[in-house]
Amino acid sequence: MCGIVGYIGNSKASEVLLKGLSYLEYRGYDSSGVALMAKNKIEIFKAPGKLNNLRDVLSSVQDICNKSTCGIGHIRWATHGLPTELNAHPHTCNCGSLVVVHNGIIENYKELKAELEKCGCEFKSQTDSEVAAHLIAHEFSKCKDLLKAMTSAVKKINGAYAFCAMHRTLPDRIIVARKNAPLIIGVGEGENFIASDIPAIIEYTKKAIYLNDNQVAEVKKDSIKITDLNGKILENKVEMLPFEPVALSKMGYKHYMLKEIHEQSDVARNVLSGKLKDSKSQITLQDVKLSENEIKNIKRIQIIACGTSLHAGLVGKYILEKFAKIPTDVEASSEYIYRDTIADNNTLVIGISQSGETADTITAIKQVKEKGSHVVIITNRPDSTMARLADSLLPVNAGIEVSVAATKSYMAQLLSLYLLTMFITQKINPETIKDKEIISLKQELLELPNKIETVTNDTEKIKAVAKKYSSFKDFIFIARGINYPTSLEGALKLKEISYINATGYSAGELKHGPIAMLDETMPVLAILNKGLVYDKVMSNCEEAKARQAKLIGVSNFIDKKHKDLFDDVLLIPDISDTLSPALNIVVLQLLAYYIAEYLGKDVDQPRNLAKSVTVE
Ligand code: M6R
Repeated sequence: MCGIVGYIGNSKASEVLLKGLSYLEYRGYDSSGVALMAKNKIEIFKAPGKLNNLRDVLSSVQDICNKSTCGIGHIRWATHGLPTELNAHPHTCNCGSLVVVHNGIIENYKELKAELEKCGCEFKSQTDSEVAAHLIAHEFSKCKDLLKAMTSAVKKINGAYAFCAMHRTLPDRIIVARKNAPLIIGVGEGENFIASDIPAIIEYTKKAIYLNDNQVAEVKKDSIKITDLNGKILENKVEMLPFEPVALSKMGYKHYMLKEIHEQSDVARNVLSGKLKDSKSQITLQDVKLSENEIKNIKRIQIIACGTSLHAGLVGKYILEKFAKIPTDVEASSEYIYRDTIADNNTLVIGISQSGETADTITAIKQVKEKGSHVVIITNRPDSTMARLADSLLPVNAGIEVSVAATKSYMAQLLSLYLLTMFITQKINPETIKDKEIISLKQELLELPNKIETVTNDTEKIKAVAKKYSSFKDFIFIARGINYPTSLEGALKLKEISYINATGYSAGELKHGPIAMLDETMPVLAILNKGLVYDKVMSNCEEAKARQAKLIGVSNFIDKKHKDLFDDVLLIPDISDTLSPALNIVVLQLLAYYIAEYLGKDVDQPRNLAKSVTVE
């Protein structure tokens, strides 16, 4: 959460910072600000709301922007204090000589604030971050060395941080520090850059230094000095960034989310390419570094993830237990990290994350690595912190996902889990290559991209259903078995972008409580795949109908019983129960999208959310 950019060189800092921040909007977008080094002073400009508001502010101070070649910028996702101009970063010390931007959470900010107030510091905002400005300035007053001041300050801070600071009296440098929040230093010719993420600087340089936890750095236009917290000089290697400059375009779609939903057929082709050749061949996963022996020794699997990635993990549990026959638990990372979890070197841990930067999941992964578990990371960002922690990496190659609501990355995660499951299964028992169900699953996977296209090419019925139900305030999505996670994910999509109260529920559990809420004001969406649980879900739908709920079905076949029971049925191409989550979800994504669109919501940047959640 929150994005940081810094620049020092010979170009106009404001332009580099604004462009950089525009590529970091996915990290938060409730306010933004920059500090520009000017002659003998630092000028600060801030604006609440989207980045365009800051752009307008800066366009009215062109004389300052034209002269400044050093500055820091920030885009905020509020943790402490409302998204106001006052709470926007950069923050300053009393006299305004020192400015700082911060990403993360200072957990002991109240204690630090109380001490600093005793020393005369006056706080203007409600943020935890302002503490850092006063604290670094306080340390600077003792040593007059900004690198040392930052080092002393971070030693007193508990929590997570990426900091970027400047001091009026030292216009030739920016000081940075990092712990549990991403920060890279882009290396240029006579200029250097700082950013929370690669897209912010890739247009200017392809070389970067990844700052590690508990490191601080002094960045000048011609030099970069990195030290540990004891002042020891370190040599971090300069790496080539694995990115091309991204031309972000909606390609004629009204929103990135719609474009990304439509890209899913190609994403599916990409994920399978090179890994699944045909229905009778073995699965190839080059970067999974588990030997046959190690796989045979796996006693349990734990899948750790958050949000949409967690829902992909829940599907993973079904298939891993069905095919690999290994007991599999799936848990939200935030719940996993603060209890006595049992993991050892016979536990395979699968971390799933679109961004690879989700703080809860990173903490969980670090914990299990200490216990000796092999960690496989499934991510869309092979350059991320999580990927760097992985023992085995499964990059999903979904391409950059701009819309905050995850869609194509979910598809890529799901399909990667199918591949990983079959990979593990074939290692445990090579004979399964002849298993009819596995052959048929592989064949279906190869046919899946075309089936996704069938759904995305004909959205008229989905649009009509979206329009019909867009005025409802509550929804319940039900399913059983392997599609239960689909109901959770469908409901999450609807909540995230339309703010409608939508709940995913196991259909069988409806009668144990939630049925009390059902009446004509709460539509029930049921996933009705031909298969083991079909009749059971139909009975649960009858129970809902008896309470006058409106019923929407999503089904892969026509059953004459549907006509009497359902108000609307959305048909998908025929598909096995086992692979159906990958097709049902496309319908639910489109339904959520069109409902939000009818309601005129900000689909790509829904309120209160951020694409990369780097705080616990
Ligand atoms: O980057 P991650 O996959 O680790 O992110 C996890 C969640 O924050 C994310 O899936 C979130 O739920 C999305 N907004 C879902 O659309």
